[in-house]
Amino acid sequence: MRGLKDKVAIITGGAGGIGKATALRFAEEGAKIVVADFADGAAVVAEVTARGGQAVYVKVDVTNLESCQNMVAKAKEAFGRIDILINNAGITKDAMMKKMTKDAFDAVIAVNLTGVFNCTSAALPTFLEQQSGVVLTTSSIVGLYGNIGQTNYAATKWGVIGMTKSWAKEMAKNGLRFNCVAPGFTGTEMVRKIPEQVLNEKIISKIPAGRLAEPEEIAAAFAFLASDDAKYINGAVLSVDGACTI
Ligand code: CAA
Ligand code: NAI
Repeated sequence: MRGLKDKVAIITGGAGGIGKATALRFAEEGAKIVVADFADGAAVVAEVTARGGQAVYVKVDVTNLESCQNMVAKAKEAFGRIDILINNAGITKDAMMKKMTKDAFDAVIAVNLTGVFNCTSAALPTFLEQQSGVVLTTSSIVGLYGNIGQTNYAATKWGVIGMTKSWAKEMAKNGLRFNCVAPGFTGTEMVRKIPEQVLNEKIISKIPAGRLAEPEEIAAAFAFLASDDAKYINGAVLSVDGACTI
């Protein structure tokens, strides 16, 4: 056990993929879960509850600051406090740079970068008042190394690392911690959208581990970073990528 008992964790993008696996893992560790997603999170809440845990679903659009403020208010209404924010909601709109539209660029920035700003901004007054709080953000191997067809996405995943490091420097003195997890290619809906030939011949063949990550393997990194075992880890990026550097 990682000592997350009775901690209240908001997990954006919690309805599916890595977010869902993180919700289930945190619940197993005793945390109270706020499944925050644009998509319906009722099934994840039901799964947590069936396993004896506590969870609520809050509909949020992370691109909208007011929606994020509402998410934090609803979380506090349900569980009285918040301890952990996992900024995990994300999208792709892949295209080669020569074909990438401004709309595709802006849409990915709005969710993956501005969304992280919005959610963190909404949670911050509570964390500062408590003088405690952990903010973990899902970056990506693509943020660290770039990737063909992902100008927009790479910009956001590198961007969240810069924000995280800045926040750690600003607010370590307030008892707050900010870290990123940088997953490699992980078996979720997001990866299922990659053309099969590209996925098999250009991506999986280059992963030294020889396979995609399981969402649960990313959730384990979040559980560690959220726990007191990581209490002096601040402003860090933890890669969970099977030695893949793309
Ligand atoms: N890595 C290596 N080579 C790639 C590649 C990639 N990620 N994506 C495309 N290519 C190669 C193709 O194999 C193809 O090579 P050949 O000319 O030798 O056949 C060439 O680039 C052009 O590709 P397409 O013919 O597919 O060109 P397109 O314009 O029709 O489509 C594309 C371009 C939209 C980028 C499409 O190829 C694609 O979706 N590629 C996958 C992009 C990708 O890796 N996305 C990751 C999504 S998962 C994620 O983002 C999570 C995370 O954090 C890791
Ligand atoms: P996913 O597509 O299964 O989950 C993303 C979730 O975000 C969905 O439930 C979706 O509804 C939600 N979401 C999208 N836009 C939203 C919005 N505006 N407001 C609220 N929720 C919104 O994908 P996956 O793979 O679980 O992705 C989770 C995070 O992990 C993303 O940030 C992604 O960029 C990142 N990541 C994924 C990797 C992968 O290979 N799957 C690798 C590295 C990082």
